[in-house]
Amino acid sequence: MSKLDIAIVGEINLDLILYGLPEQMPTERELLASDFAVTLGSSSAILAHNLAALGSQVGFITKVGGDSFGAIATDRLRERGVHLTRVAHGAKSGVTVILPHESQRHILTYPGTISELRFKDIDLDYLASARHFHMSSLFLQRELLPHVPELFRRVKSAGLTTSLDTNDDPEDRWKDGLAKILPHVDILLPNEREAMKIAGTNDFENALSRLGQKVKTVVVKMGASGAIAIQDGRRFNAEAIPVKVVDPVGAGDSFDAGFLHQFLRGADLEKCLAYGNLCGAFSTTDCGGTEAFRDRARMQEFFRRHEASNQ
Ligand SMILES: Nc1ncnc2c1ncn2[C@@H]1O[C@H](COP(=O)(O)OP(=O)(O)O)[C@@H](O)[C@H]1O
Ligand SMILES: [Mg+2]
Repeated sequence: MSKLDIAIVGEINLDLILYGLPEQMPTERELLASDFAVTLGSSSAILAHNLAALGSQVGFITKVGGDSFGAIATDRLRERGVHLTRVAHGAKSGVTVILPHESQRHILTYPGTISELRFKDIDLDYLASARHFHMSSLFLQRELLPHVPELFRRVKSAGLTTSLDTNDDPEDRWKDGLAKILPHVDILLPNEREAMKIAGTNDFENALSRLGQKVKTVVVKMGASGAIAIQDGRRFNAEAIPVKVVDPVGAGDSFDAGFLHQFLRGADLEKCLAYGNLCGAFSTTDCGGTEAFRDRARMQEFFRRHEASNQ
């Protein structure tokens, strides 16, 4: 087996997105959306999809629902060449319904198989066949969560580098073994709010320095302000790419894809950050987190245009 660049353990589901809904949504009324999209959702699957679109060799370990939603979701990954030989099967797919309004959005998730992946579903030898290990959506992995510190410890001792994007904690507890996981994480990829939650402070600068003492490379995604990183006590700022945003869903996962794709090629931190911003911005130019990355020609054209203006 050729060596995988990265093994990702995580969740898979479809996102159903209804655009153009009114700001206020009274009950018992027929409310019309102006557009609708079904896209591959879930942070882990979006990352797997977009990393493969960029050209990384990606192995994805997940639990898929035994229904048509599960089949559509895995087909989207297969189209991009994601390796799916270690997929476990469950009963009912999870689903996320996203209702973007003018400024805010509702995000409603039924977990289904999203939370059902178990430690025994994971082939540790397969993970060890990759160079790098990543997890996203930590707190959604309810069955796996108690075993995640052990999982990270094992892959680290097998010689892999590691990264983690916790995403949000729906219970807003920010515990569940995080303190035991972080010592095994090489790259932590939160957004601004998550960075403060993980560090247990409302002060962003304080959060940066606390996290920087725990993890070698901390990369904080700052939306339209780009990203900030702390590595071995040094601080790096990387500006966002100006773009007309169609949909911000999945921008953070796409940033992770760009950053990790360059990291896996041995690029320096500045290049990793620039590529993260490039992919985050590109993701916002189309629906959901993966639609933009399905059009290879448009992706290459966007990269050419913005990489050139970056130099
Ligand atoms: N309006 C925007 N303009 C340009 N780039 C953006 C914009 N919003 C997000 N991005 C890119 O996507 C990355 C992730 O977005 P962010 O909203 O911070 O993360 P998350 O989706 O995890 O909350 C940003 O760091 C940036 O590179
Ligand atoms: Mg995120």
